[in-house]
Amino acid sequence: MAFCSLVSLFLLLLFTAMVSAQLLSTFYDTSCPNALSTIQSAVKDAVAKESRMGASLLRLHFHDCFVNGCDGSVLLDDTANFTGEKTAFPNQNSLRGFDVVDSIKSQVEAVCTQIVSCADILAVAARDSVVALGGPSWTVKLGRRDSTTASLSTANSDLPGPNLDLSALITAFSNKGLSTTDLIALSGAHTIGQARCVTFRNRIYNETNIDSSYATSLQANCPSVGGDNNFSDLDVQTPTNFDNNYYVNLVNNKGLLHSDQQLFNGGSTDSQVKSYTTNSDQFSTDFAAAMINMGDVDPLTGTQGEIRISCRKIN
Ligand code: HEM
Ligand SMILES: *[C@@H]1O[C@H](CO)[C@@H](O)[C@H](O)[C@H]1NC(C)=O
Ligand SMILES: *[C@@H]1O[C@H](CO)[C@@H](O)[C@H](O)[C@H]1NC(C)=O
Ligand SMILES: *[C@@H]1O[C@H](CO)[C@@H](O)[C@H](O)[C@H]1NC(C)=O
Repeated sequence: MAFCSLVSLFLLLLFTAMVSAQLLSTFYDTSCPNALSTIQSAVKDAVAKESRMGASLLRLHFHDCFVNGCDGSVLLDDTANFTGEKTAFPNQNSLRGFDVVDSIKSQVEAVCTQIVSCADILAVAARDSVVALGGPSWTVKLGRRDSTTASLSTANSDLPGPNLDLSALITAFSNKGLSTTDLIALSGAHTIGQARCVTFRNRIYNETNIDSSYATSLQANCPSVGGDNNFSDLDVQTPTNFDNNYYVNLVNNKGLLHSDQQLFNGGSTDSQVKSYTTNSDQFSTDFAAAMINMGDVDPLTGTQGEIRISCRKIN
């Protein structure tokens, strides 16, 4: 009898340890049943107010996951004695939406105190943003915990920049356990949102694999000197719809960033880009699968890390 209970206890502990090491879509079902609906309605409101916010929230989850895993590190503010990731080159004067995340977090804290991590809020808000802009949905896996650390140097080294060539893009994703298919599908996120002149200036003045009337029209708002922070839409056709037009742009040499056009430039990824131009269902399926893969990158689980009270600072 005692032996049996001991065995059951052992099995229970083993099971708990196994479960805590992975993410589960039902993670908050009993501990915070209103978490997901609270996040969703806050995201809907924010996107209704400004459609670009959907893009900005999606990008936050990406920049979180690519720096030591999806652990909310991207949200930490610098202080006198702590250096976060917000001043990394790909983030500074670029990432936005932090106030919206604060607002979502305080609404979630109001329904359940210190249960839902900032890292999970970013993952759910990314999905809800895509849906709010007409894109595909997927089931978000949950149970990530928040870091008590951040890494400025990893943010600078691991976040891919707009001047990368195809091989470097493939490597940057492969370093996170993501495939070339994931890279191509996830890059379809650039069907929404905007980029600053400084990120595409060289492309529109110096590159030849760009539609010339597209380049000329971009030059009006992005001079060869100055106007660094002037914006252009990443998708010249439907910048506030989550659709497959990003790929249609690429096959027409209308990728905004050098890195975008690298995906359709006579190389190994051309065929997948081309297939997404005519098969938007395949893009939707692959994008959703790739977002789940990205959300699985090195999460903190179980008793690792913490549940932050404010997403901007460690408890
Ligand atoms: C493949 C490598 C990638 C590179 C080199 C890249 C680079 C960039 C750059 C340079 C910008 C403009 C930033 C600025 O002007 O301040 C941008 C914007 C954006 N990126 Fe990416 N990105 C990549 C992949 C991704 C992925 C995987 C996602 C999400 C799944 C994503 C989502 C976005 C969104 C939504 C915006 C617009 C944000 C806004 O309007 O606030 N990007 N990206
Ligand atoms: C770091 O700074 C914060 C205020 O920004 C302060 O509350 C905290 O005590 C400081 N920690 C250490 C170890 O100095
Ligand atoms: C075009 O390329 C040249 C040579 O690399 C560079 O010096 C120049 O700054 C580039 N022009 C723009 C507008 O980026
Ligand atoms: C930046 O954009 C604004 C608004 O489109 C435009 O009027 C301005 O000339 C641009 N700045 C530069 C330096 O071109």
